[in-house]
Amino acid sequence: MRLTGKTAIVTGAARGIGYHISRRFAEEGCSVVMADLSEAGEETSKRLRETGADAVFCRADVSRNDSVEELIRFASKKLGKVDILVNNAAINIPGSILELSEEVWDRTYEVNVKSMFLMSRAVVPGMQAGGGGSIINLGSANSYVAEPRLAAYVSSKGAILMLSKAMALDFSPQGIRVNCICPGWVDTTFNDLHADLFGGREEVLKDIAQIHPIGRAIHPAEIAETAVFLASDEASAITGAGIVVDGGYTAK
Ligand SMILES: NC(=O)c1ccc[n+]([C@@H]2O[C@H](COP(=O)([O-])OP(=O)(O)OC[C@H]3O[C@@H](n4cnc5c(N)ncnc54)[C@H](O)[C@@H]3O)[C@@H](O)[C@H]2O)c1
Repeated sequence: MRLTGKTAIVTGAARGIGYHISRRFAEEGCSVVMADLSEAGEETSKRLRETGADAVFCRADVSRNDSVEELIRFASKKLGKVDILVNNAAINIPGSILELSEEVWDRTYEVNVKSMFLMSRAVVPGMQAGGGGSIINLGSANSYVAEPRLAAYVSSKGAILMLSKAMALDFSPQGIRVNCICPGWVDTTFNDLHADLFGGREEVLKDIAQIHPIGRAIHPAEIAETAVFLASDEASAITGAGIVVDGGYTAK
């Protein structure tokens, strides 16, 4: 087991990529606090516990500092220390800048970017005191390449890649590694609103060979494998990296 004795907070863990990261971390011997705005996390964490996982749910809105502070209090009580933080929660509301409201713009940046600032600054002092840690931020292939009618989302994902690099520079001397996983099209419901603008999810999935040279969508479990690697000591020399897990999408 690659994460034995380690502890983690995973945000946006009620479903999708966050759920699979929590599942794989637990399988590798890690104790996990699964945080999410959605109460559905109660059920998904229960499902994991039934398989023997040490995983508990905590409802939190990671875009709000008061909620983050409550989450950190809960996690400190449950875990004692936090070795790994996965900043995964995000929203994806499509539109060009002429289609997006100011409220949607602000909310996108609060949930996607500000949450990483709030969560990381709450966890880093404990990691510094404990001699190190691993922070994994979920960027996107859109951290590198844009897409039509996705202005708020792609720009927020660009910011996350640079935030990851800035944090890596600031905290590497204290043994805290910060990396950014940048997935291509992962088969969750996350992209549905954007896909609706282009004929719906099924239509977009038919074009997947054009989108991904590997000819298929990515499974959330494939993102989770990269997260396990980055969280583990196997990645001890990797920090400040953007790691694309995109089926070749950004190679074109
Ligand atoms: N699905 C993809 O194709 C894809 C591609 C590239 C990057 N990503 C990134 O991967 C991450 C996870 O994506 P996913 O596909 O699993 O999405 P998802 O929609 O399935 O899961 C996101 C989770 O975040 C939670 N969440 C939203 N706002 C929150 C808040 N304020 N506080 C706490 N939790 C909140 C949601 O309730 C949900 O459970 C995101 O950062 C996303 O940008 C996804």
